[in-house]
Amino acid sequence: MKLQRRTLFAAMAAASLAGTWPLSVLAQKKIVLGFSQIGAESEWRTANSESIKSAAKEAGIELKFSDAQQKQENQIKAIRSFIAQKVDVIAFSPVVESGWGTVLREAKAAKIPVILSDRAVDEKDDSLWVSFMGSDFVEEGRRAGRWLVDKMKGQTGTVNIVELQGTVGSAPAIDRKKGFEEIIKADPKFKVIRSQTGDFTRAKGKEVMEAFLKAEGKKINVLYAHNDDMAIGAIQAIEEAGMKPAKDITIISIDAVKGAFEAMIAGKLNVSVECSPLLGPQLMNAVKDLVAGKTIPKRIVTEEGIFPMEVAAKEFPKRKY
Ligand code: AHR
Repeated sequence: MKLQRRTLFAAMAAASLAGTWPLSVLAQKKIVLGFSQIGAESEWRTANSESIKSAAKEAGIELKFSDAQQKQENQIKAIRSFIAQKVDVIAFSPVVESGWGTVLREAKAAKIPVILSDRAVDEKDDSLWVSFMGSDFVEEGRRAGRWLVDKMKGQTGTVNIVELQGTVGSAPAIDRKKGFEEIIKADPKFKVIRSQTGDFTRAKGKEVMEAFLKAEGKKINVLYAHNDDMAIGAIQAIEEAGMKPAKDITIISIDAVKGAFEAMIAGKLNVSVECSPLLGPQLMNAVKDLVAGKTIPKRIVTEEGIFPMEVAAKEFPKRKY
């Protein structure tokens, strides 16, 4: 059924180009995209939702946008509702990696192509999605680790690290931990003394950092936060404990959102590894290509950098999120 609709789109496009089908008929057929978003847990996520909504508008694609409020069951419900509505393409950002097999098989049976946006799923059968577009989270963790190794070069004593992990079971939490550990394990002076989830939010980041400070106090040399929001929450906790963020405790985080640049400019955050949320335009291009019957790459990796506090003031005016 879905394939027939896509074939029809492609045939109509060809016919209109050949001048045998009026463009006005083609114009009436709006592509429908169902998108299931995780929620609004971070500055990053808000920018990501905004990018998707504005790119859909720009591309003339009808967007059915559903906010799952951090719950996998809500995402599964939304995907089932997109299948029932016979949308042309489904895209979603999976809150956690596992537990998607059944609903993805339902979409496949309905012949609706699925695009994974931002986060991957942990499913053996990769025919269940046509493409995964987003960052290389393991590499982001490695970048954070390499920056730390370089910063602590020449230091002989133990470097005690506390880690604020992202949402339990999510791809960025798993991969950023893995990439960071891969780099620091080469030198035994680096020790992760506490590691706990802060669920990617400012409130949780602050709360967990307070507990770390209570337990370890001045022993903490470094904070590695899996996103900027948790780092910003933790900065508040550090200040409330009478310590100086980025001086008494070196702080590394991920995303490079505007809030992180403001913290770096204020001298409270040492570095942020970039993770771009601006996935909207490439998602809409992929949707259009799929509907036109084209094949799209199975993996589209976002290109990203790293911003230490020394360049923050210069880079800030160029930031788009
Ligand atoms: O999946 C991307 C991550 O999700 C971002 O790093 C984090 O801020 C967000 O909530």
